[in-house]
Amino acid sequence: MKWLITGAAGMVGTDLRNELASRGEDVVALAKSDLDIANRDEVLRFVTDARPDFIVNCAAYTKVDLAETEESLANAINGSAVEFLVEAADRVDAQLVQISTDFVFDGSSQRPYDVNDPTAPLSAYGRSKLIGEQAAARHTVVRTSWLFGIHGNNFVEAIRNQIRKGTNPLRVVNDQRGRPTYTPHLARAIIRIANLGARGVVHYADEPECTWFDFACAINEELGSPVQIEPVTSEQFVRPAKRPAYSVLSTERYERLTGVRPDSWRDGLREYLSLRT
Ligand SMILES: NC(=O)c1ccc[n+]([C@@H]2O[C@H](COP(=O)([O-])OP(=O)(O)OC[C@H]3O[C@@H](n4cnc5c(N)ncnc54)[C@H](OP(=O)(O)O)[C@@H]3O)[C@@H](O)[C@H]2O)c1
Repeated sequence: MKWLITGAAGMVGTDLRNELASRGEDVVALAKSDLDIANRDEVLRFVTDARPDFIVNCAAYTKVDLAETEESLANAINGSAVEFLVEAADRVDAQLVQISTDFVFDGSSQRPYDVNDPTAPLSAYGRSKLIGEQAAARHTVVRTSWLFGIHGNNFVEAIRNQIRKGTNPLRVVNDQRGRPTYTPHLARAIIRIANLGARGVVHYADEPECTWFDFACAINEELGSPVQIEPVTSEQFVRPAKRPAYSVLSTERYERLTGVRPDSWRDGLREYLSLRT
C-alpha cells in the first residue's frame, strides 16, 4: 500500500511517518513547505502524481485560541482544503483519512460521545474542524483528543516547563474531562482503521478518561517532582476559545472494528518522558 501524508512535519504527521517507515511501507511524506493543502492545484498535482492508496491529512490550523480572530484562515485550512483533498482522493480512488477533534462537541453530555452524537462546536477552531469532517464524510474521519507527542508542543511539555521554572503551586483546571492520547498510539490506530477500509467517523483516544488536573498530577508523579498541583475551575483560567467541559470520546466503534482496546496514556506518558528530556 502507498501512503501520502500531508502536514508530515507536525506532531501527529511525524509519528505517523515514522511508524509507517518502520513497517517498510511506501510513504510520501509532505510537510507544509512541500505542499500547502489550501492550494487546490498543488493538492491535485501531488496526489495525481503519487497515486496513493491512502491519504492521511495531518495538516491543520491548530491554534485554538488564535482561531477566534482568524476564523476564515482556520476555515480555509481545516475546511476548504479538505474538499480539495477529497476531490484529489476521488480522482485516484484513494481513501482519505481526515483527523478531527473532540472540540466538535459542546461538552454537555453526561456520557462518552458516540460517533453519531450531534455536534455543536463552541469555538471557531471546532467549527472549522466540523467543516472538514463534513467534507470528508464519504471517506474516513478519525476523531481524537488531548494529544501529546515528542514532535510538538503539548500539555505534558507545558507542565514540565512550569515545573522546571519552579512554579509552585501549579494551578490546573479540574472541571474539564477528556482522554489524553499519545500520538504514536494514535498513529497505530490510524493505520489499523485505514487498513480495514472503515468509512465514516471513528473515535480513537487512549484510556482512561481524566481531568487536566489528574493528567498534571500523573506528569508530576512520573517526574518525581515535589511541586504541589492545585485544582482550579475553568472560570479561574479564562482563555479566548471556549473548551467543552466534557469531551470524553467513546471508542466503542474502534474496538468493535479492530478488536483492539485503546492504549493507556500513562504508558504513553512514561515513553514520552524517556524519549524527550
Ligand atoms: N493537538 C491536539 O491536542 C489535537 C486534539 C485533537 C485533534 N487534533 C487534530 O490532529 C491533527 C494533527 O494535529 P497536530 O497536533 O499534529 O498539529 P500540529 O503539530 O500543529 O501539526 C499540523 C501541521 O500542519 C501544518 N500545516 C498548517 N497549515 C498547513 C497548510 N496549509 N498546508 C500544509 N500543512 C499545514 C503545520 O505546519 P506549521 O506548524 O508550519 O503551520 C503543522 O506541521 C489536526 O487535524 C488536529 O486538528 C489535535
